[in-house]
Amino acid sequence: MFDIWNRRYTGSKYKLSSWIEELIAENCKGSSFCDIFAGTGIISYTMLDKMKKIYINDFLYSNEVIYKAFFDQTSYDESLLLKYCQQFQDLSVNDISDNYISENFGGKFFSYSDAKKIGHIREVIESDRSKLSDKEFSILLASLLYSADKSANTVGHYDAYIKGHKISDTFTFDLITPYKTKKSQIFISREDANDFAKKLKCDIVYIDPPYNSRQYSRFYHILENITCWRKPELHGVALKPEPENMSDYCRNKAKVVFKGLINSLDCKFIVVSYNNTYESKSSSSKNKMTLEDIETALSARGEVKRFETSHNFFNAGKTDFNDHKELIFIVKVK
Ligand SMILES: C[S@@+](CC[C@H](N)C(=O)[O-])C[C@H]1O[C@@H](n2cnc3c(N)ncnc32)[C@H](O)[C@@H]1O
Repeated sequence: MFDIWNRRYTGSKYKLSSWIEELIAENCKGSSFCDIFAGTGIISYTMLDKMKKIYINDFLYSNEVIYKAFFDQTSYDESLLLKYCQQFQDLSVNDISDNYISENFGGKFFSYSDAKKIGHIREVIESDRSKLSDKEFSILLASLLYSADKSANTVGHYDAYIKGHKISDTFTFDLITPYKTKKSQIFISREDANDFAKKLKCDIVYIDPPYNSRQYSRFYHILENITCWRKPELHGVALKPEPENMSDYCRNKAKVVFKGLINSLDCKFIVVSYNNTYESKSSSSKNKMTLEDIETALSARGEVKRFETSHNFFNAGKTDFNDHKELIFIVKVK
């Protein structure tokens, strides 16, 4: 069974989550919480049962289905899901035909046999959709995403696959563990953060945008592709579809959109995660916003408190940046 943190995700705050949770408990007061760039959803997870209302937002399709699978509180038929799980675990690759995933990604991002199974399972989930509730559909699909990610021939994202070795068959379908809460009401959305912020009224807003030019929709294009299942034509060595959900936070206007977001928030506390990789020498991991940009935007809304810790950062070995620090800013809004 997969927990929410059992996936590889660039910028995941899993290892920092207890620290962030403590800082929020010590410095913020409120009963509603919004994770507006939620990523894996780990920070929302730490708020379960602590907040009356939790808003979870990210613009990726795969993240939305994962949030519905873990957090949506509608009931579901567990025995039905166990039956699907057994059926998917018993699959024999010789009984399955070639499909979109094996034809495009087999022998590249997954072994050929694993890709065949992943594509087949996705087809079954799609053709049985009318027999499944939205929650059951989300659990099966999120389980497939977690299972596929575990067997992917990558360093943790899908910008490239690892070449020059034989890819072993490691895929096993397993279910995710949905979380139950009686104390928190959960609201899941898939919107641009700046659009969502304009409609939101919430006590504490946690902000963890991308800070460099690496687009999440490009990094996780295979998970997006499996989720949407529109079977688009793919391009280039990394077999990516046409771009969608390209973030302004990864562009030179990051500073402007960040300021716009901060100014539009109707909340009591703003909590912002940041790391100091802007000094990095590699241009793709260089930050689009400096520490100063962040502090200036935040101080317009109230007094800014700053907390820091060191953290061994994902940099794909391309930067020679050792002094990585994770920062949290907390603003009590005036
Ligand atoms: C640094 S990650 C968040 C990590 C998350 N806090 C965690 O612990 O897993 C940034 C997230 O912002 C999302 N994102 C980027 N630009 C966005 C936008 N304009 N609107 C909504 N989400 C966006 C990305 O898909 C990515 O999941």
